[in-house]
Amino acid sequence: MAVDLSLQWLGLSMASPLYNASGVMCRTRDELDAVAGSAAGAVMTKSCTLVAREGNPEPRYRATALGSINSMGLPNEGYQYYFDYAQAFDYRKPLFVSIAGMTLEDNLYMLAALRDLRLPCLPEVNLSCPNLPGKPQLAYDFAATAEALAAFCQVYPGPFGVKLPPYFDPVHFAQMAALLNRFDSLRFVTCINSVGNGLLIDLESETTLIKPKGGLGGLGGDYVLPTALANVREFARLMPEKHVIGCGGIKSGAEAFMHILCGATAVQLGTCLQEEGVAAFARIERELADLMAAKGYTTLADFRGRLKTFD
Ligand SMILES: Cc1cc2nc3c(=O)[nH]c(=O)nc-3n(C[C@H](O)[C@H](O)[C@H](O)COP(=O)(O)O)c2cc1C
Repeated sequence: MAVDLSLQWLGLSMASPLYNASGVMCRTRDELDAVAGSAAGAVMTKSCTLVAREGNPEPRYRATALGSINSMGLPNEGYQYYFDYAQAFDYRKPLFVSIAGMTLEDNLYMLAALRDLRLPCLPEVNLSCPNLPGKPQLAYDFAATAEALAAFCQVYPGPFGVKLPPYFDPVHFAQMAALLNRFDSLRFVTCINSVGNGLLIDLESETTLIKPKGGLGGLGGDYVLPTALANVREFARLMPEKHVIGCGGIKSGAEAFMHILCGATAVQLGTCLQEEGVAAFARIERELADLMAAKGYTTLADFRGRLKTFD
């Protein structure tokens, strides 16, 4: 049975639903070109700030048998580098540009600059960016998120998306979904960013695995799969007019299938891609196609969002 992994959404065509999560294989031109030249269905850039950043001191990323922890501190080449890349890109596959301003003004400045370039790429605004001192990250401050989204829509008339951190309470899912639903040009949400502020310890040396923030860092990989699936499922249910992009814990065709079953339009690879390199795309596509064939599905639409529950 021929399985078709292609998809169309927001006027974009993708041969496969898999692409890189922001921050992995996408900081430099060489890395972005490697994703573009791989079996990935699209390309995502590293979250950029107005000015280039070195990021936090090393070690700042570590992988374990169950996933990863990182506190990178947004090392990136500055927005102009990624916008230049977007201008030179051949658009044989879709390109997404991740934006993570240190302030609302920075985000508005970058969105206005992107708007003026009139490129076919789409922005994914990373809402896990700093808010005011003493306040949580932007996406955990609902009033500030509402203000920021209203301002984004004023400056940027085209379709755009946001990258969300995980939420853990049904009230928060409902409040955030209601808020996001108010903005028509917000067309997609990517769930989830790392599960924030975990702590992994090396038992033998009794030391944290990473250096920044006393060892606290964002978790990815197996650690976060159930949280990612719940966020994809709930936001897909609560925002039927928007696309949800699944990210978190995908390392084989099985997890990619589960994300799509929860309603994901497409899915992103973080930790797995960091550990395995771009060969992960072709491998996971093969595994997803085999799984679909074994289940009698020929297209992603055959099972997208069709998760069964007991009630
Ligand atoms: C090294 C590293 C850097 C990351 N940098 C970013 C980033 O710049 N912007 C962003 O939105 N997410 C960033 N993330 C989070 C990932 O995009 C992803 O949401 C998270 O790792 C969960 O996916 P995973 O379980 O496949 O790793 C980063 C993750 C890692 C491991």
